Amino acid sequence: MNRYTHFKNQVLKILLFGISSFLLSASSFVDATAQSILTASSKRIREKFDFNWQFHKGDIAIKRAVKAAGYGGLTDINVKVETNKDAIVAYTDVDKAATFKPEDWKEVNLPHDWCVEGTFVNDKSIGSSPAVSGYLPGGIGFYRKEFEIPETDKGKKISIEFDGIFRNSSVWVNGQLMGNHQSGYTPSNYDLTDVLRYGNEGKNVILVKVDATDYEGWWYEGCGIYRHVWLNKTDRLHVDRFGTYVTTPVVSPDEASVNIKTNIKNEYGVIKNITLVSKIADNKGVIIDTKTSSQVIEPFSTTEISQQGIIKKPLLWTPETPGLYKLLTEVSENGVVVDNYETTFGVRTVEVNRNGVFLNGKLYPVKGTCNHQDFAGIGVALPDKINEYKLKLLKEMGSNAYRCSHHPPTPELLDMCDRMGLLVLDENRMLSGSEEGIKDLKAMLYRDRNHPSIFMWSMENEEWIQGTVTGARILKTLVDITHQIDPTRPVTAAMNHGRNEGGYSDVLDVVGYNYGDKGLAYVKDHEKYPNRVEFNTETTSFISTRGEYKNDWGKGYVSNLGLWQPGWGPLPGEDWADVVKYPYLGGLFVWTGFDYRGEPTPYQWPCVTSHFGFMDICGFPKDGYYAYKAAWTNEPVVHIFPHWNWPGKEGDSTQVHCYTNCDEVELFLNGKKIGRQKTTPYTKLIWNLIYKPGKLEARGYKNGKLVTKDIVETTTAPAHVALNSDCTVLKADGTDVVIIRVAIKDAKGRVVPTAGDLVKFSIEGPGKIIGTGNGNPSSHEPDKASQRMAFNGYCLVLVQSNKQAGEIRLKASSETLKGDEVIINVQ
Ligand code: GAL
Repeated sequence: MNRYTHFKNQVLKILLFGISSFLLSASSFVDATAQSILTASSKRIREKFDFNWQFHKGDIAIKRAVKAAGYGGLTDINVKVETNKDAIVAYTDVDKAATFKPEDWKEVNLPHDWCVEGTFVNDKSIGSSPAVSGYLPGGIGFYRKEFEIPETDKGKKISIEFDGIFRNSSVWVNGQLMGNHQSGYTPSNYDLTDVLRYGNEGKNVILVKVDATDYEGWWYEGCGIYRHVWLNKTDRLHVDRFGTYVTTPVVSPDEASVNIKTNIKNEYGVIKNITLVSKIADNKGVIIDTKTSSQVIEPFSTTEISQQGIIKKPLLWTPETPGLYKLLTEVSENGVVVDNYETTFGVRTVEVNRNGVFLNGKLYPVKGTCNHQDFAGIGVALPDKINEYKLKLLKEMGSNAYRCSHHPPTPELLDMCDRMGLLVLDENRMLSGSEEGIKDLKAMLYRDRNHPSIFMWSMENEEWIQGTVTGARILKTLVDITHQIDPTRPVTAAMNHGRNEGGYSDVLDVVGYNYGDKGLAYVKDHEKYPNRVEFNTETTSFISTRGEYKNDWGKGYVSNLGLWQPGWGPLPGEDWADVVKYPYLGGLFVWTGFDYRGEPTPYQWPCVTSHFGFMDICGFPKDGYYAYKAAWTNEPVVHIFPHWNWPGKEGDSTQVHCYTNCDEVELFLNGKKIGRQKTTPYTKLIWNLIYKPGKLEARGYKNGKLVTKDIVETTTAPAHVALNSDCTVLKADGTDVVIIRVAIKDAKGRVVPTAGDLVKFSIEGPGKIIGTGNGNPSSHEPDKASQRMAFNGYCLVLVQSNKQAGEIRLKASSETLKGDEVIINVQ
C-alpha cells in the first residue's frame, strides 16, 4: 500500500489510524419507495450476515499456520494443530479441534470497529514538531462465524459480500483461502459455492483476518468489519453482481425514456434460453411499464441485454422531491422464474457547465458538506439509523448535498441520500492506475451508478501528483474508465494545487477547487480558461469547539468567535457569498458537517478530534452551523453567541456575535436596547457591550417585521439531567438505535452551557448501550462505557435494541443532580 502523502503547507495532518433500499428506523423519512416490493416468492435470497460473529483482538500467527499447511487448503489436521492451535481452530472445523479457546474470542455483531474500543495513545514519533500525536491504535483482528447451509441450497450459487472492512482482509471458509482485499473502502465478494458444507456435511466456519496496521488516509479510519455483510443465494442462472444499469437519457415533463441494461450470468455448463422481464414500478409500487426480451446465454458466460422503457409524466428527482422508481427484473427459463432483482433509480438530468450546476434544467446551487464516516460512541461502525440521523441533521441545517470524503461510502448511505434527498459527490480513494487501484474505482462505479443522488464522480482528493504530467496520465486512465462505465455523469478531482500545470485539469470534465485561495484562484481561472468548468469541491475549514469562546492551547479548544482560523479557509458563510456572486462555481462542500476523530488542527495531544465540523461528533450544533442555516434555508434565523455565564467578568467589555438571514437585528440586554444593526448577507453581526449577567435577546426583522428572536440567559447552577430521545419506539431487530441527547439544566430548565458533570447511565430491558460521546475534542474517556462527562452542557448516549420486544428504561444520574429516564418501546 502506498504511504499517502497529504499536501497542505499550513498544517501538519494527524495520522489517526486507527443497493439495498431498506430503512430500519421509525424515522419520518421512511416512505413507500423504501420498501422492497419483491414478492415473498423471490428466488434470490439476500441474507444479512451481521449477527453472531466472534472476534479475537491481536494476531494469531495465522500466516505461519497457513504456510505450513499450504495456501488454499489444509488437509492434515495434525500438522495444523502443531503449527498453531488457535489459528487452526479459528479457520477449520471446530468440532475436530479440541483446543479451541472460546474465552479468547468475544461475541460481536456487525458492523464492528475494534479501534474505538481502545485507548488513545500519545505517540510523539508521528510527524514532526508540533506533531499531532494522539490516536487509537489499529493492529490485527480476526473474526469468525459458524453457520449452517441447508441441503436444499445445494446447486445454488452462494456468495458473501462485505460492504467494507478496514482494511487488508483475508477470508477463509472451511480452511480454504477465498482471497484478500486491501482497500478499506470498497466492497469485496467471494463465491463460496464449492467450499461450503451442505446439510449433514457439517457446520461451516468463516474466518476473516483484518490487518489494520497500515492506513489509507489522515483521519480516523477504524478497524474491522465495520459495514454490513450479506450472504447471497441465487440460481446458477442469475443477474450478475451490480448487474443492472438504468439511465434516463431523455427527460421531459411528459416523458422519460429509460435505458435498461441487464447482465445475465449463466454458471451452468449448458446453453440457457432465457426470458428477461423488466418492470418499472412507480413510487407507490404500481407497474407502469413492462419490457420482455428473449436471449440465449452461452455456458459459463455473461450477456448484457438492453431494453428501453418509458415513464409518462415522470416524477423528477430533486433533493426537495426525492421521488424514486424501481426496476423489477425477472429472469425465467421455460416459463419458470429463476431470479428476481430490484434496482432503485430516479429520473433527473444533471449538467455541470460554465454557468453552474443544473438539475432538471434549472440552476441548482449545491449546498454541501464534506464528511468522514465516524460518529460518537461507535467509531466507523455505524448502524443504519445513525447514518440516517446524520443526514437528517445535515438536511435540517439546510444542506442539499453530501461529499463522501475521501472514499466511497457504505451503500446504505447512498440509498438514504436517494430517499431523503441529498445530492452526492462520490469519491474514489486513491489516484492509482495500478490493477488494485482500477479495481477499486470500478467497484465504486458499478456499485453506485444507479443512484440518482450521485451527480458527479471525484477521482481523488489532493493527491501530491496533481499538476504533474504523470499525474495527468494516471488521471486520464481513471477518467476514461469512468466515462466508459458511466457516461452520464461528469468527472472531477478535488484539487488544492496544480490546477494550471501538467495538463492535469484538461483531463477533467469539471475542475474541483479545494479552497481556491479564498476565491482568488477560481475567479481568476474562470476568466483565464474559457473552456474550464469549475466546482467548489471543498471550502471553509472553519475550526471551533462547541461551546468554547476562547482559544485554549492547553486543553485543545478553539473559540467559536473566529479568533483563530486556518489561512486557507474563509469564515462561515463567506464562501457562500462567493457562490451567490459567482453562480458558475456551482455550489460548494464545506469542510465538514461533523467533527471526526483525528486531524485536531491546530493542536496536538491532548486533542484527538477535529474542530472542523459545524456540528460536533455527537451532532450537537456549534455556532457556525447557524451561518449555514441562515444562508441555506428560508427559515428566519437569528443566532447569538457566546453564552452569558461569565462570573467575575461583570463590568468588562465584551462582544455578542450573531448569524442571521434577517434584514436587521436588534439586541437587548436585560430589556435595555443595545443597538439595531442592518445586515450584509452572509456576514456576522457584532455588538460591543459591557457584560452584565441576565438576559440577552436578539430580535430579527424582515421588511421591518419581527420574524424571529433568540434568547441567551445567564443560568444558575446545574440542577438536573434531562434526556431527550429522537424516538420512543425501536424495532426488535437487534440493529435499531435510539439517540438520546443528555443536557445538564438549571432549576429553571435552562441548559447550563459550561456544565461538565459526570452522567451515569443504567439500562433495563431488551437493549444495550453501544456508545457515548460529548463532543469534547480532547476527551480520552472510553466511548464504550455507561458514563460520560457532559461537555459544555451536553453529552450523548446511544442505545440499540435487542431482538426481543419489551420496554427499555434508560436512566441517567449524576451525583448532586436530579436524574431522568426515558422509556423506549421495542416491538
Ligand atoms: C483539506 C483536505 C481535508 C482536510 C482539510 C482540513 O485540504 O482535503 O481532508 O484535511 O484540508 O482543512
